Amino acid sequence: MPKTEKEIEIVLDGKKVTCREGENLLKVAQANGVFIPALCYFDHVDPPLGTCRVCTVKVKGKYTAGCQVIAKEGLEVEVMTPELLDHRKAVVEMLFTEGNHICPLCEKSGKCVLQALGYEMGMETPRFPYTFPNREIDYKPKHIIMENHRCIQCKRCVEDVFTDEGRPVFYFQQRGKETFVAVDYEQEAKLSYEQAYRAMEICPVGTILLKEDTMEAPGFRKYDKVPISEKSPEEEAKQEVKQQVVNPAEVKKKVVATVSLSGCFGCHMSMLDMDLDLLDLIEVVSFNRSPFTDIKDFTQRCDVGLIEGGCCSDENVEVLRKFRESCDILVSVGACAINGNLPALRNWMPVEQTLREAYLETPTADSTALIPHHEDLPKILDKVYPCHEVVKIDYYIPGCPPGGDHIYKVVQNLLLGTNYEVPYEKFKYD
Ligand code: SF4
Ligand code: SF4
Ligand code: FES
Repeated sequence: MPKTEKEIEIVLDGKKVTCREGENLLKVAQANGVFIPALCYFDHVDPPLGTCRVCTVKVKGKYTAGCQVIAKEGLEVEVMTPELLDHRKAVVEMLFTEGNHICPLCEKSGKCVLQALGYEMGMETPRFPYTFPNREIDYKPKHIIMENHRCIQCKRCVEDVFTDEGRPVFYFQQRGKETFVAVDYEQEAKLSYEQAYRAMEICPVGTILLKEDTMEAPGFRKYDKVPISEKSPEEEAKQEVKQQVVNPAEVKKKVVATVSLSGCFGCHMSMLDMDLDLLDLIEVVSFNRSPFTDIKDFTQRCDVGLIEGGCCSDENVEVLRKFRESCDILVSVGACAINGNLPALRNWMPVEQTLREAYLETPTADSTALIPHHEDLPKILDKVYPCHEVVKIDYYIPGCPPGGDHIYKVVQNLLLGTNYEVPYEKFKYD
């Protein structure tokens, strides 16, 4: 139905809203402060591509792509039900697991719509197994690099990148799970720098990257500051939490334990980065088992345990279980504890191959090299497990590493109920 000037009423989650007949549902929802996520949807590609399904809503009890729903009299749409929120989150999780999405290693990090949706939806570890597709990176085009293993096959580039003569530059090749986006090298070479840059911008993820160009530095990227579903000033005002001043003299000291499992110790370095805040913190907490105190075994029950790193060995599992037994509240700190992060890159290969590559096939290994093996050494697990797959975790502090001030505020919130707000941009893995 073409868009007309006729004003009509439709119903979003039981609430009547006014819009123009024929208007796209995503636009109507946006104008009325309802956030429907979208990935393949692109303003001027009409009809909408409808390839990603992250915009799924329900019309008359049936799932449908929100970007393909057109406003007409009497339309009733379900958008924000718990079922649909979870459904859309599952789609985003699937997209993450279908590709090799390791954000800290990706040029598009901070400007990527898929990553922003992951944050927006509170995705931690996807519920589906990673598939780690083996798709070749194509360096042959003149202007761009194609990191095909991150392509979500949204079709934006295929439908919207053309040369001045109107020839397409990208096309789908193969079928089923072998499908990938191929480049017509001859046509791609005719693109200007600006056109190639636009192709990179059109791609909602980090597949099309411009050669000899990098994204902005952290802090200046598209999603560094603004939540993807921007809140109205009124909503922001409602959420504003007054910071409370804590008088240390009135507070009985709480006890904190920390440990680094399979991580790089970066989260602990971040805790030390609290600088002078650390002095404030030790007015109100004392540390028990922790590398900070060098206390190796718990000497008392603790209020909070902060865990850095995931579990890559039987020793990590034993230590983590001991923390669960000994702490009232357990917090996964940083990406390695939350999703395995870089240590989990070995998860796609058998453990024997990991050991062989690490000890026997590195450039520094000589003919005397051995894979260490002794009954006193920790046994390496088949894969690296995030902490919540081993014990119950109560809270998560994302980041790689999370900032010291962020950890400080979370600890204060948990122990002292101070209600400090942690800004959106702090919840980043990249
Ligand atoms: S930034 Fe986006 S494209 Fe890059 S790895 Fe993360 S989710 Fe994938
Ligand atoms: S290369 Fe990018 S724009 Fe093209 S289909 Fe893949 S994800 Fe979409
Ligand atoms: S945004 Fe609707 S299907 Fe992709």
